[in-house]
Amino acid sequence: MKKRIFSGAQPTGELHLGNYLGATKNWVELQNDYDSMFCIVDLHAITVPQDPLVLRRKTLDLARIYLAAGIDPDVSTVFVQSAVPAHAELAWALNCIAKMGELQRMTQFKDKSGGKSESASVGLFTYPVLMAADILLYQTDLVPVGQDQKQHLELTRDIAERFNRDYGETFVVPDPYILKAGAKILSLKDPSKKMSKSDPNENATIFLMDDPDTVMRKVRKAVTDSGTTVEFDENRPAINNLLTIYRMLTGKSEEDCVTEFEGRGYGEFKPALGETVVEFLRPFQERYKQFDDEELKNILKAGAEKARELARTTIDNTYKNLGLR
Ligand code: AMP
Ligand code: TRP
Repeated sequence: MKKRIFSGAQPTGELHLGNYLGATKNWVELQNDYDSMFCIVDLHAITVPQDPLVLRRKTLDLARIYLAAGIDPDVSTVFVQSAVPAHAELAWALNCIAKMGELQRMTQFKDKSGGKSESASVGLFTYPVLMAADILLYQTDLVPVGQDQKQHLELTRDIAERFNRDYGETFVVPDPYILKAGAKILSLKDPSKKMSKSDPNENATIFLMDDPDTVMRKVRKAVTDSGTTVEFDENRPAINNLLTIYRMLTGKSEEDCVTEFEGRGYGEFKPALGETVVEFLRPFQERYKQFDDEELKNILKAGAEKARELARTTIDNTYKNLGLR
């Protein structure tokens, strides 16, 4: 039997190259080797206020992005979280297992609440527990995500182990699946930060829907470190990041990338990188336009049916083991 992978992304903001290289690209490469579930986590999205109409549109658009990136709905299960009530049902039970102290240590909550935890929603605080529910519901073996989600994965493991110990074997304890290169794509304007959908500097992030001129401009304006050589070097995070993007999109080896730009400076590398990104985005954006709403809705409906069936067994077991029902 194939091992199961589960991953998801929120239908908010716009997806960028960091999301693609850190998460979606891996999903596509893994989907044939694993029993794969890819979720659009709209319940996570509402932990901060959303415009309902925009949320609904973004949810479908994210499904479109998954498919354009190469996720095959005949191979993988693609679905929307809120269409499977078991996510919320399991989250409640796990809320009673997770500790306040554990959640207080989550750096994403600290970042997202911006130090104003008093006015953050309770949902934002308990966000990682809902994420644990997503994963544990499907007896997931591996969770492919970017580096920023590692802490949430550790919490998920802790919750699963505690539950299994106190209430009997109920959950598979999942492993994170974080690929080294691309696990953290950095901001083009400040390589001490990750590339993010909410960066106030519009040149910091390459969005998957950017047009060619915008891409070329952003790459041209990307900051560089001191030094002029084009090399992979952990101590020069800016060029390291740009080369990583180049390497991942071209599929070339590190050595080949370095040889290619040996003796040539940023002046030649940057346009080459810009072209590479543009040529990657062009067919991606073409595919994106191909799917109509009805087709997407049907795919999501079929995905949710399958997910509901799988989730039922876990919910029944969990509730039974807790003495409910
Ligand atoms: P989010 O945009 O926070 O909903 O993240 C969706 C997925 O993209 C998660 O698996 C993240 O770990 C991944 N991700 C987000 N930003 C980056 C980045 N800058 N580099 C690599 N992966 C990222
Ligand atoms: N928290 C993840 C993010 O911000 C999204 C997510 C929700 C997720 N549930 C998940 C990722 C389960 C992997 C598995 O990127």
